[in-house]
Amino acid sequence: MDLRILNLTEENLALAARVLRSGGLIGLPTETVYGLAADAANEAAIERIYEAKGRPKFNPLIAHVSDIEMAQREGVFRPEALALVEAHWPGPLTVVVDVAPTGTVSKLARAGLDSVALRIPAHAIPINLVETFGGPLVAPSANPSGKISPTTLDHVMQDMGDKLDLIFNGGTCAAGIESTIIDARGERPALLRPGSLNPDWIEEIWPGLIRPDLNPAAPRSPGQLLRHYAPRAELRLNANAPEPGEAYLGFGPGAATLNLSERGDLDEAAKNLFSMLRELDQNYDRIAVAPIPTHGLGEGINDRLTRAAK
Ligand code: TXA
Ligand code: MG
Repeated sequence: MDLRILNLTEENLALAARVLRSGGLIGLPTETVYGLAADAANEAAIERIYEAKGRPKFNPLIAHVSDIEMAQREGVFRPEALALVEAHWPGPLTVVVDVAPTGTVSKLARAGLDSVALRIPAHAIPINLVETFGGPLVAPSANPSGKISPTTLDHVMQDMGDKLDLIFNGGTCAAGIESTIIDARGERPALLRPGSLNPDWIEEIWPGLIRPDLNPAAPRSPGQLLRHYAPRAELRLNANAPEPGEAYLGFGPGAATLNLSERGDLDEAAKNLFSMLRELDQNYDRIAVAPIPTHGLGEGINDRLTRAAK
C-alpha cells in the first residue's frame, strides 16, 4: 500500500494516534527538521525506530511533549531549568534532566540512561499529535543515522518512505537545523549540541553556559559522534573560492553554485543548509563551503559542517 500523506485535521490526528497506539512509526514536521515519531513508552515501536535509522542503541532519543506539566511528569526540573523552558518552549530547545519517578519514556528510548531529553516543538502538528495521543512521542530526525537530516517532505520520502506507516506534510521546516540541547541537571547549563536556538538566549535566562568539549572520546551526549550530517561528496570548509571541479556553497554576496544566504543572514543559512547540501551532493563529488561566522546560530551551522566534513 502506498504511504499515506496527511494534512493537519482532527480526523488525521485521530488516525495517527491509533497508528501510534498499535506501535506504528509516523513521519512528522517540526520547526527544526522532520522527525520519525513513535510512542515513547512502547519498546517494540522504539526498536523499529533504531532499526529504521540504523542507529546505535547507545544513542538515546528525544521525547516530545505538548506542555510543561507533561514534561514535569517525565523529568525533574531544577528552578533554573524550569525558567529556561518557560521562556523558550514551544521552541527549538531540548533539555536533558533526571528521569522523574512518574516518567513513562522507555529505558530503551533513553539508551539505559537515568536522564531524559525533552522538548516542546514550535509546530502545530507535533503538539496536536502529542495531545491527541495523550503522552510523549519520541522523535529522532527522520534520516538514516549519520546522514543529512531532512527539512522537507520529499527528503523524508526519499530516505524513510518505506519505513513509515503515515507521514504528515508540513512543507519546509522553518529553522532547518536541529534543536539546541542543554544539560540542565547541574548548577550551570551545559551546551550538549548547538542548534537552532541561539545560545546567547540561554544565557539571558540562565547565565554561565558551559561549553564542554563536544568531540571527546566519550561525549556527554552520545549522539555527538564525529561524522554526522554527512553527504556522499567530500566537503572542504572555510573556502574563499572553489577549486576546479568543486561546487561552491556560498554565504554572503558573490558568485556561488548555491548560496546559503546572499545577505549573510545566519537564520536563512540554517534554514537552507541541509537542503542545499543534499542538492549539491546529487550533482558534485566535491563541495567547497564559504566561511560561516561562528557567533549565534553560526555555532550550530559550523558544528554540522565540521561533522559532515570528517
Ligand atoms: O530538533 C530536534 O531536536 C529533532 C526534532 C525531530 O525534534 N530531533 C533530533 O533528534 O535531532 P536526534 O535523535 O536526531 O538527536 C537527539 C540527540 C542525540 O544527539 C542524542 O544523543 C541526544 O539528543 N540525547 C537524547 N537523550 C539524551 C540524554 N539523556 N543525554 C544526553 N543526550 C541525549
Ligand atoms: Mg539526528
